[in-house]
Amino acid sequence: MDTERVRDHFRVQVSGYPDLMRRLIPFYDEQREIMLRLIPFDRAAPIRVLDLGCGPGVMVAEILSRYPNAHLTAFDLTEEMLQACRMRIGINERVVYRLGDFRSDALGQEYDLIMASLSLHHLQLPERPTFLRRVHQILKPGGIIIAAEVIVDEDIDVREQQYELWRRFIAGNGEDAAYWFARHLEKDHPAPIHALIKMLGDAGFSQGGCHWRFLNFAILSGRLW
Ligand SMILES: C[S@@+](CC[C@H](N)C(=O)[O-])C[C@H]1O[C@@H](n2cnc3c(N)ncnc32)[C@H](O)[C@@H]1O
Repeated sequence: MDTERVRDHFRVQVSGYPDLMRRLIPFYDEQREIMLRLIPFDRAAPIRVLDLGCGPGVMVAEILSRYPNAHLTAFDLTEEMLQACRMRIGINERVVYRLGDFRSDALGQEYDLIMASLSLHHLQLPERPTFLRRVHQILKPGGIIIAAEVIVDEDIDVREQQYELWRRFIAGNGEDAAYWFARHLEKDHPAPIHALIKMLGDAGFSQGGCHWRFLNFAILSGRLW
């Protein structure tokens, strides 16, 4: 799916976005909480944080309140999402907002922490190695990327079973499961967990691992020593 279509997809979702995500993504709030708990830095640490695909800023708001000395870059492709993030956060000298495509635009540098909540599956698989090498370069030693990923099981039967359970979850929340599943097939590029971990290792991360998984969702991290 090209950049313009990803942008259009998210442009129309801004209003009521967190509630929509709760209807579409199992354990949406819990996934964010797990990501936050995986941050290995002290609360008082003056960390530099990049939120890739920040959407309307739910994660940005949490990090700001839990890490009072953190400075954040909120990065997103979609103007409307970034605007919603600005509205949520307000003027805050600890946050800069960057509109851009994380596949091609400059991301800044010298980060301690990169958060990517449900955004990296927009990368096509062949784009991942180059992207991860860039991420590796902009992290400081000791830095970490924590990502909530959309994944697929290696086993085709398990994959289908998990997709069926996901569609039931969506339908059970009153959403059109066929519509959202078609959007998933059209715009997302999920990969098996082991392939994602291998790509982290190939990009130079010394510690890549999976911390949580349910159906076709997983939380992974890669650390740089
Ligand atoms: C599913 S939303 C997740 C938003 C937020 N991180 C959350 O967990 O609620 C994916 C976000 O990634 C952004 N995004 C997708 N592709 C992107 C790209 N190539 N560069 C920057 N942002 C991108 C979208 O605009 C959207 O805001």
